[in-house]
Amino acid sequence: MTVASPSKLYSDLDVRVELDAPLAPLTWFGIGGRADALVRPNTIEALATLAHRCRRDLVPLRVLGSGANLLVDDAGVDGVVVQLDSELFRKVEFNAEGLVERMRVYGGASMERLVQECARRGLAGIEPMSGIPASLGGAIRMNAGGKFGAIGDVVDAVAMIGPDGDLRIYTRDELRFEYRHSNLPDGVVVWASLRVQPDDPVVCRQRVRDIFAYKKSTQPMAANSAGCMFRNPTMPDGTRESAGRLIDRAGLKGARVGSAFVSVEHGNFIAIEKHAAGARTDDVRALVELIQDRVQRESGVGLETEVVFWRRGEQG
Ligand code: EPU
Repeated sequence: MTVASPSKLYSDLDVRVELDAPLAPLTWFGIGGRADALVRPNTIEALATLAHRCRRDLVPLRVLGSGANLLVDDAGVDGVVVQLDSELFRKVEFNAEGLVERMRVYGGASMERLVQECARRGLAGIEPMSGIPASLGGAIRMNAGGKFGAIGDVVDAVAMIGPDGDLRIYTRDELRFEYRHSNLPDGVVVWASLRVQPDDPVVCRQRVRDIFAYKKSTQPMAANSAGCMFRNPTMPDGTRESAGRLIDRAGLKGARVGSAFVSVEHGNFIAIEKHAAGARTDDVRALVELIQDRVQRESGVGLETEVVFWRRGEQG
């Protein structure tokens, strides 16, 4: 075990620490190595101080959300991995600032639970996130969404701890959300203020069910995967094409490297065989390259990955 992150970074802080922590069970792929140090802050102050010290000592700091869009290298990762799973960071405040249309959601809150709770309370606006596994922070950073909308559509403000450890609030007019991208800098989302509209709970619940049903009918939702592997590319005429369709047309459904394979339900999903012994991130990486080569040859399109790769020696 190499622990590149000295305990002096966090030993005096209000955090829980696990050294040489397995990350595979914390990701949807369920593969990959260990974190030298997995640190779970209990307070915003502890998180801010940790971020500041990591920057000062040039120690990489990575943030683990719900592990839904992440592939961890077989050799694991160095530095500090932060997980916002304490009670404070999973909080949702309804009627924020006394307004029924506003809620403050903390960075580690589960989007799936939030979607359900909003529907139950009759608050409309975030149904498009139905069936998208994510933490609030991860969803905001990459503007998670799909056919029915994206989280950026309802964001009013974001509070972030930047790499220097300062907490800054970004207001709606400073924020830009585009397809699977936001203009937020590197850092940790502490909370976001989201806009919702009161509506009939029965109607809200039905919308959530309909969107979930669409996903379930077109995607392998129960697979060990990280959702869509590639971004939908922009075509020469300016429209976005489904990467899944391009992969499908290239005849790659079912293609496999080791225990990693392309889903037969949706071409943009790479899954890992359940309970496969010795399943490796390197297999997924090799399959990604095979797909990129083949799609480039068949349709002249270069596919970029949407899933985030973590490797030792690189900043997360
Ligand atoms: N299609 C195929 N073959 C395939 C996959 C899709 O022919 O293997 C066709 C479908 O029949 C459909 C079209 O391509 O006519 C679009 O498919 P789909 O509705 O599944 O949408 P997508 O563009 O492939 C995007 C998001 C998904 C999101 C869905 C639905 C990206 C990269 N993907 O997929 O998001 O769930 O829309 O809203 O933007 C994710 O981000 O992890 C993800 C899965």
